[in-house]
Amino acid sequence: MTPYFILSLFLHHLAFLLAGPLCRNLTHAATGGGRWTLLKPNIGITAMHMQLLPNDRVVIFDRTDFGPSNISLPNHKCRLDPHDIVLKSDCTAHSIEYDVVSNSLRPLTVLTDVWCSSGSLSPDGRLIQTGGFNDGDRAVRVFKPCNGFDCDWQEIKYGLNAERWYATNHILPDGRQIIVGGRRQFNYEFYPKTGSTNRAYSLPILVETNEPKIENNLYPFVFLNVDGNLFIFANNRAVLFDYSKGIVVKTYPNMPDGNPRSYPSTGSAVLLPLKNLQGRAIQAEVLVCGGAPKGSYTSARMGQFVGALKTCGGSK
Ligand SMILES: *[C@@H]1O[C@H](CO)[C@@H](O)[C@H](O)[C@H]1NC(C)=O
Ligand SMILES: *[C@@H]1O[C@H](CO)[C@@H](O)[C@H](O)[C@H]1NC(C)=O
Repeated sequence: MTPYFILSLFLHHLAFLLAGPLCRNLTHAATGGGRWTLLKPNIGITAMHMQLLPNDRVVIFDRTDFGPSNISLPNHKCRLDPHDIVLKSDCTAHSIEYDVVSNSLRPLTVLTDVWCSSGSLSPDGRLIQTGGFNDGDRAVRVFKPCNGFDCDWQEIKYGLNAERWYATNHILPDGRQIIVGGRRQFNYEFYPKTGSTNRAYSLPILVETNEPKIENNLYPFVFLNVDGNLFIFANNRAVLFDYSKGIVVKTYPNMPDGNPRSYPSTGSAVLLPLKNLQGRAIQAEVLVCGGAPKGSYTSARMGQFVGALKTCGGSK
């Protein structure tokens, strides 16, 4: 899971965003008398996804197929999309830019459905955001931060080779990003593309961990290892993957209980701080926590709700 996605999970409610300026007053916090203040009664959209940009502004965006939002597009513009499931003509915005310092916001123009899309910041500070649902499933959306008010999303409607809904993006050392999986996509691709990399490459772990009708391999947890390979975890297991050659260099043992951890079982994962032990090689460690017991998706559909997993697994 990318840090990008972890943030977006926290932000179904606005609490985190709104607390920002308050947290700056450490004197106040130290007294233990913290409190929440609503800085804006309504930002107009739901924060399904959000990303802090290098200029201290936050770009927030939401799916387009849930009806109109509560903020209009700038300059009386409308989005005409005969393919949208709900709104063929829509004059509301589904993305905003929030400026933390001035506590102000402005609407942005996202054109396609970003529902359960994915993204990553590139080294130059642009947010590269990909995939989603319906008309957005192959889109690449780029948001280049600006200090004024004239930047907006740029969309490349067929920027991806495959339709990616619930994929994971990760930045690579050369500045490209890798986009892994998505619903019924047992492969990965890169962005931006060069002539020789303009295709999708198969990734067997996504086939092996796919449970028909449950698909516990979505939003796989992806981390760049210190040796340059990618740690890719889906469902209940992980591999170390050399994306430049397209080969698995290590297969990790399955999680001991075999229970699914990735979406829709929706545990979470983190790369722990790297320790530089004098003279010894730096070793990365990933912690995966939570998830749902096997079969809980099916039982939930029949009205039986079981508890989430209380366990974590670590992998070196
Ligand atoms: C921080 O909070 C304290 C306690 O409420 C207040 O006295 C002080 O003026 C605040 N400082 C700033 C910079 O807002
Ligand atoms: C947002 O909600 C307010 C309060 O209900 C309403 O007055 C306003 O017209 C709405 N704006 C849009 C763009 O829907």
